[in-house]
Amino acid sequence: MTGARYRVEVMHGVNLDQLGRRDPLFYGTLTLGELERRIAEDAAELNLDTRFFHTNHEGVFVERLHSLEGHADAILLNPGSWTHYAWAIRDALEIAALPALEIHLSDVQAREPWRRVSVIGELCFATISGRGPDGYRDALGLLRAELERVSP
Ligand code: DQA
Repeated sequence: MTGARYRVEVMHGVNLDQLGRRDPLFYGTLTLGELERRIAEDAAELNLDTRFFHTNHEGVFVERLHSLEGHADAILLNPGSWTHYAWAIRDALEIAALPALEIHLSDVQAREPWRRVSVIGELCFATISGRGPDGYRDALGLLRAELERVSP
């Protein structure tokens, strides 16, 4: 474990608190709490501090993005279905102006056509989709590398 400590805000959006009850074919069997514990452990190995946030309310998600200045160095976000249409979240992510990585448990490109659209993708330096919980570990590695690049 080397290098600077960075703070990563891990944000889950609408319906992701229902993991464990959703179709395991797409989302696996972990609950959100279990997934967050796994993320925290993987992050600690990379010397990343994590803070977790979930809401089912779009405005609350937007306000969390507004509040990140001075509290986070990067954002790992899975907005759930908001990804595909919530322009207010796209604008709030732009206001947050932090390195951001978009992540999905399922392979959104291989599902219904409406899931292929991401309104936040253009603001994210990378997107990971379809790798389940392991994708979050990959995402943390990419975030660490990006943070070392932009704020060494
Ligand atoms: C999701 C994919 C979205 O299309 C869906 O609406 C979700 C979860 C994922 O993690 O695979 O709620 O973001």
